[in-house]
Amino acid sequence: MKSMLLVLAAAGSMLVAGAANAQAGADLAKAKNCMGCHDVAAKKVGPAFKDVAAKYKGNKEAEAKLTTALKEGKGHPTKVAATDAELKTLVQYVLSTK
Ligand code: HEC
Repeated sequence: MKSMLLVLAAAGSMLVAGAANAQAGADLAKAKNCMGCHDVAAKKVGPAFKDVAAKYKGNKEAEAKLTTALKEGKGHPTKVAATDAELKTLVQYVLSTK
């Protein structure tokens, strides 16, 4: 199951956009327990992904900033244990949820 998700994540990060990428992102967010603190549409422990996407709309730095935040735990309460490819998929997914 885990290797399946990794394959999905890798495939997803290679696509620029599209349904496969969104699905891989959603699956990965679940697998990485993001959804324990986040929801796509509602505020939980952390902000709704939809609100994050709205906040960073049109911001070209968003992907790099959020990737660093998650990777290093700067501006995010937890350090996220994920590969760079997984982080890319996660961040692109979050930013796509508007
Ligand atoms: C332990 C709870 C928790 C977990 C698990 C968690 N988050 Fe968060 N996240 C938060 C909180 C709280 C904030 C708000 C931080 C703030 O605004 O200071 C946040 C903020 C964010 C933001 C917005 C940062 C910004 O600059 O606006 C993103 C994107 C995000 N989380 C993504 C993720 C992803 C992706 C995962 C899974 C890999 C994840 N989070 C797992 C609690 C969590």
